[in-house]
Amino acid sequence: MIDTIRIFDTTLRDGEQAPGFSMTEAGKLKMARALAALNVDIIEAGFAAASPGDHAAIKRIAEEIDGPAICSLARTVKGDIDAAASALKPAKKKRIHVFLGTSPLHREHKLNMTPAEILARIREMVGYARQFADDVEFSAEDAIRTEPGFLVEALSTAAEAGAMTLNVPDTVGYSTPDEIFQLFSMLSKKVSRPDGVIFSAHCHDDLGMAVANSLAAVRGGARQIECAMNGIGERAGNCALEDAVMALRTRRDAFGFSTNIKTEQIMAASRTLSQVTNTHPPRNKAVVGANAFAHESGIHQHGVLKNRETYEIMRPEDIGLPSNQIILGKHSGKHALKARAAELGHELDGDALNAAFTRFKQVADEVGIVDAARLMAILAEQEAGEPDWKLSRLDIRSPVAANADPVARIELEHRTRGRISDLASAPGALDAAYTAISQIMDLPARVADIDMQYVAADPEETGDDGQGADVLVDLKAEVEGEIFAGRARARDIIPACVGAYVDALNNALAIRRARTNARGGAAA
Ligand code: KIV
Ligand code: ZN
Repeated sequence: MIDTIRIFDTTLRDGEQAPGFSMTEAGKLKMARALAALNVDIIEAGFAAASPGDHAAIKRIAEEIDGPAICSLARTVKGDIDAAASALKPAKKKRIHVFLGTSPLHREHKLNMTPAEILARIREMVGYARQFADDVEFSAEDAIRTEPGFLVEALSTAAEAGAMTLNVPDTVGYSTPDEIFQLFSMLSKKVSRPDGVIFSAHCHDDLGMAVANSLAAVRGGARQIECAMNGIGERAGNCALEDAVMALRTRRDAFGFSTNIKTEQIMAASRTLSQVTNTHPPRNKAVVGANAFAHESGIHQHGVLKNRETYEIMRPEDIGLPSNQIILGKHSGKHALKARAAELGHELDGDALNAAFTRFKQVADEVGIVDAARLMAILAEQEAGEPDWKLSRLDIRSPVAANADPVARIELEHRTRGRISDLASAPGALDAAYTAISQIMDLPARVADIDMQYVAADPEETGDDGQGADVLVDLKAEVEGEIFAGRARARDIIPACVGAYVDALNNALAIRRARTNARGGAAA
């Protein structure tokens, strides 16, 4: 009795072929490494015959990735199977995945083939693929809309010709969990196959049921789930790997199966995909969304701070997140503010807590989420009262000549020392300005992140140019490994960025001063 479900990852094939998710060869390789670290059983690395680029990427992955079997998709035509075999040649473990439509719609409108021709093609091409690989998978495309009797014949033919995995795709995401459970239960009884041949589910999410359908297929007898990281794939996507794996793990009592996945690598793989495709999963995406382990409301935060099981069914560490996140926002209470400030080294009580809480609510109303850097800025503001430095002049010369760098002249006004100015040049105008500011403040820093918003004009307050709109910049600066937030609003991008940089460095200075004072106070 098999109690481990194989995880066949198709992020790099079905996922990559969806609009907006195409990846370069280097991006695919990076993602394949993340999938290998996740310990998926099979990586479907692409469709070798689709393009020379796809062929090259599969070959590179086959050469460099150890652990999972590497797979290429192929239609039931010799040219496709030859392309798959040549791309997979360097792989230590390889799988060729051949597919053919079996439903009446596909047979009549796409393929123009009779049922007998379909069966003959399956027999011939699965057999041909077996000449190149012992591990061959056959997919009956649009299986869900195929007559059940004919599907049994098609899958039995594939098994007889040497396919070791029989995939039953819900190509159009039409099935329901009950139907798919019945179908797999029936196939498990009726498809004739040698020992060791397993069924696989490949569900699309057009009606939002891909994960539920894949799990129902497992209950019906499937022993492989085809899925993609973050649920990407054709149209609404494929079954999300992280959802299926964490459902099997968290509800082992209900399903009775495990996987080989190293779940603590899930977050890393999800983030690699976001980085490689420039697309983040929605905040509320199960398991890997930014909100999946985040608590903002005061009631939930209070509960989780006492015992996280009050509102969590999985441990964030199990998917590779260091901890749950108490997200500070306008719904948060004083308990959470005090706890987060303490984590950042600030004990807040009495009046200091009340004052910080009032300011925190104002900022939260404005910016939504108050992250650690922004909270440090609030604490710095509370402690310092007035900032150390103010921007009093900004002058940038950007020469047109290709070999000359822009020069920034900055003048800052210090609380007690008066005005100080300095010059710097760098390949970018903003870099030059940041360098001059750091020189004046004697505080080297690196801009880690900038978020810019064009704040629409208030129709009552149009400027001379009739626009009256502002640029609002949120900037994170890294100072000796620590992140500090700064924010500024101006009519133009450059002054807004420069103002936000000055604000971030002021916050860094205030926080450091407060820490030194606290240490002095403790010693006294
Ligand atoms: O959705 C589908 O039917 C497919 C097959 C090629 C497996 O992606
Ligand atoms: Zn698919």
